[in-house]
Amino acid sequence: MSIVNTKEGYGALTKLFHWLIVLLFALQYVGANIMLALGRGETLFGQNGGFYYNWHKSLGLVALVIAVVRLINRQVGRLPDWAPTLTAGEQRFIHRAEQLLYLSMFVMPISGYIYVMSGGYGVLLFGVWKMDNPIGKWESLAFLTKWVHIIFSYALLAAILGHLVVVLRHQFIVKDGLIKRMLPRKGD
Ligand code: HEM
Ligand code: HEM
Repeated sequence: MSIVNTKEGYGALTKLFHWLIVLLFALQYVGANIMLALGRGETLFGQNGGFYYNWHKSLGLVALVIAVVRLINRQVGRLPDWAPTLTAGEQRFIHRAEQLLYLSMFVMPISGYIYVMSGGYGVLLFGVWKMDNPIGKWESLAFLTKWVHIIFSYALLAAILGHLVVVLRHQFIVKDGLIKRMLPRKGD
């Protein structure tokens, strides 16, 4: 199969980035709920809240880099033709949901980064490297970006669920194997 997208289907890079982002976003939601639930002095699997905050921030920034490369990959290539079994309504819905998914892939990490920098919390990348703070303390910006981060996390969740409903409907009701379009094929 081709590295980039073709008229017939998604390329290996699109599939790789798609599943990497699925994994990272799943970790982000789980990690965020753990770090927000842990009180001072509490631990989970031997790690305190600070550990989970560090990993949430670090993986979020890795996800941003992947999102940039993924978007470039999508822009330089073409998109495959629509799956023939999608209705016109589903095509419109998928198009809008994908716009929101792509927007969130940027808004989430960027708002998170600006929030922690302007809030003065900073980023200790993977627990080892303290990143410079190019913004400095700015409370109103921290307040705004924190809420953007939270509100977008729910919008993103809704878009992911909608996306999943379409895929699952095709998998189990229409039974056209739509998910195979995003899975590796022989020779990948
Ligand atoms: C890339 C994708 C990211 C996703 C999907 C994500 C997701 C989330 C979610 C679901 C929450 C919980 C929101 C709530 O209900 O309160 C959260 C909170 C938080 N995130 Fe992220 N995040 C991402 C990236 C980042 C980055 C890059 C940073 C910082 C560098 C960051 C910093 C934070 C902080 C500090 C909180 C706690 C906010 C609070 O105090 O309520 N996030 N994130
Ligand atoms: C378990 C969860 C998921 C499943 C089973 C899944 C499945 C799929 C499938 C089968 C397609 C191809 C649809 C087609 O055009 O025929 C697709 C495309 C796509 N998915 Fe997902 N997906 C999941 C989660 C996500 C998440 C979390 C995101 C983003 C945050 C995402 C973003 C996209 C995008 C943007 C496309 C269009 C192709 C591209 O430009 O990369 N998906 N997904």
